Amino acid sequence: MNKTTEQPILSVRRLKQYFSSGFGKQKMVVKAVDDVSFDIYKGEVFGLVGESGCGKTTTGRSIIKLYEPTDGEVFFMGTRISAGTQSLKESIKTMRREAHKQLAELTLQEKKSIEEAQGNEAKIDAIKKDFEAQKEEVTKDRDALIKNIKRDIPNRKEDTGKPNKELMKRMQMIFQDPIASLNPRMTVKEIIAEGLRIAGEKKDKEINIQVNRVLETVGLLPEHASRYPHEFSGGQRQRIGIARALVVRPEFIIADEPISALDVSIQAQVINLLNDLRQEFGITIMFIAHDLSVVKYFSDRIGVMYYGKLVELASKDELFKNPLHPYTKSLLSAVPLPDPDYEKGRKRIKYDPTMHDYSKELPDLHEVKPGHFIYANTMELEEYKKVLK
Ligand SMILES: Nc1ncnc2c1ncn2[C@@H]1O[C@H](COP(=O)(O)OP(=O)(O)O)[C@@H](O)[C@H]1O
Ligand SMILES: [Mg+2]
Repeated sequence: MNKTTEQPILSVRRLKQYFSSGFGKQKMVVKAVDDVSFDIYKGEVFGLVGESGCGKTTTGRSIIKLYEPTDGEVFFMGTRISAGTQSLKESIKTMRREAHKQLAELTLQEKKSIEEAQGNEAKIDAIKKDFEAQKEEVTKDRDALIKNIKRDIPNRKEDTGKPNKELMKRMQMIFQDPIASLNPRMTVKEIIAEGLRIAGEKKDKEINIQVNRVLETVGLLPEHASRYPHEFSGGQRQRIGIARALVVRPEFIIADEPISALDVSIQAQVINLLNDLRQEFGITIMFIAHDLSVVKYFSDRIGVMYYGKLVELASKDELFKNPLHPYTKSLLSAVPLPDPDYEKGRKRIKYDPTMHDYSKELPDLHEVKPGHFIYANTMELEEYKKVLK
């Protein structure tokens, strides 16, 4: 953990990213990221691990603002860059609906009471007054509650309304699939230069210099600049993706399974390249992977995700020494070790999420010991503490 400082470069707070499809009764909501919080410190490699479909890519895409988060906040280099307000807006809608229902109900009751009064003017007057007061109370309560919520919306939005271009440039993503993420009709130079142009660079000469420099950094040649993506191998394409991310000199890179589409022989090369970049430029990396075998060598801290939730977070050494969550244990049991004795005895542990009893108390992320976080309820937390002792 050489260049790591205790200063978070990125803070994710209670991030939610829900996707809905269909309408009415067919409406389905996928909670791809569901209340996830973590910090990434300057200079470190933070591994985000979990099986396919657990929400890793969505977390990355939400951080980099490719999605508007459903809820929660993201801070980057001290500035809030995202703040979801959907749940606040939902609350307002629910409140309006509830109040509307109550008012309709009161009107109905009033009508009935008036009918029962059978033309007794004095009684009817009293009834009308009484219901008027009741309705006024409902309206007043509703307006006060909504005003409270609305007060929070501009606060959350004010510094996140339009993405800060300069700041967002400091954050780049290397995508999972190097083939799908490179425009086949653009040359390598155009692909890499696009980021520079978006960032405001206009001079062709300067663009040429920077493109050539970054091609060299990732181990490609200047003559590669005029070729098209399909002329390259998988490993080279991933290098192009890395060059595109690097050319704007980011301080933070999200590398989304950058090697899982590559041959084993090339995987090490790309990892070494990322490692060099980290040593040379002090770039902070969030490294996404679907198992622990890669991040084992290439992370300082590791977060484990399971179906939209962050279930455990610790330094790499701590996670491998003291895994607590049964899902982490199951992931660990899948990591082969170059030790024949260990391999003979290694058994895959299967995780069964129904093993948790959350009927009485729901779980949340707790710090079970400094720097070691676990998703648990109070009862489980006590058990985990005993294990650690
Ligand atoms: N744009 C989208 N629209 C709807 N559902 C999505 C979208 N992106 C991802 N999902 C769903 O969200 C869940 C998490 O996906 P993803 O973040 O890609 O997982 P991972 O990267 O861990 O494999 C999956 O169930 C996936 O089908
Ligand atoms: Mg993914």
